[in-house]
Amino acid sequence: MSIPRIGDPAPDFTAVTTQGPITLSEWQGGKWVLLFSHPADFTPVCTTELSELARRNAEFEARNVKLIGLSIDSIHSHLAWLDSIREKLGIDVPFPMIADLDTKVAQAYGMLHPGESATVTVRAVFVIDPTRTVRALVYYPLTCGRNVDELVRLIDALQTASANACATPVNWRPGEKVIVPPALTVDARKKRQLDGTIEKTTAYLAFKTL
Ligand code: BEZ
Repeated sequence: MSIPRIGDPAPDFTAVTTQGPITLSEWQGGKWVLLFSHPADFTPVCTTELSELARRNAEFEARNVKLIGLSIDSIHSHLAWLDSIREKLGIDVPFPMIADLDTKVAQAYGMLHPGESATVTVRAVFVIDPTRTVRALVYYPLTCGRNVDELVRLIDALQTASANACATPVNWRPGEKVIVPPALTVDARKKRQLDGTIEKTTAYLAFKTL
């Protein structure tokens, strides 16, 4: 089992989900995708993660991102868990959940880490861009719930960097200054000296307000 890396094509798949069969390449429809795995239905940390992602789904939609979850559970288990979350927490899960009983998708995305568990997927997140390229991956162990603020921030940073040919500094938040790539030729350095919008700290560290 290998893990798709940043810049690799995201493996395509067809899977059984709570919203019917889905083929990633067709379902994606030109949007970004956040594919996440959780260890198991009806477990406490996973319930907090799933309900928070569902509660904040509109924030992902506003960023052109479709969420899709996965675990090695049956479709019956997924549907019963979603019913329970609706009844007990008053939250509807609006995105599909993959029932990956044959572990096909989990294997393709390297979501099974036998040293952590032989039977359940770890907490993996793949950010996939509209060209179906893996743009980021995040892995958490079974015991630690993910931070949805950070996932939203990561998407903002990726989309801002792509749209503006820039990078984002440590702890960056939308609205803050971004990093301009270093000027690597004599001409580019001269041009930069004249560009009043660029705030230069050193030749290799320069910021800009978008
Ligand atoms: C949980 O979601 O609470 C959980 C699932 C698997 C192992 C440990 C914790």
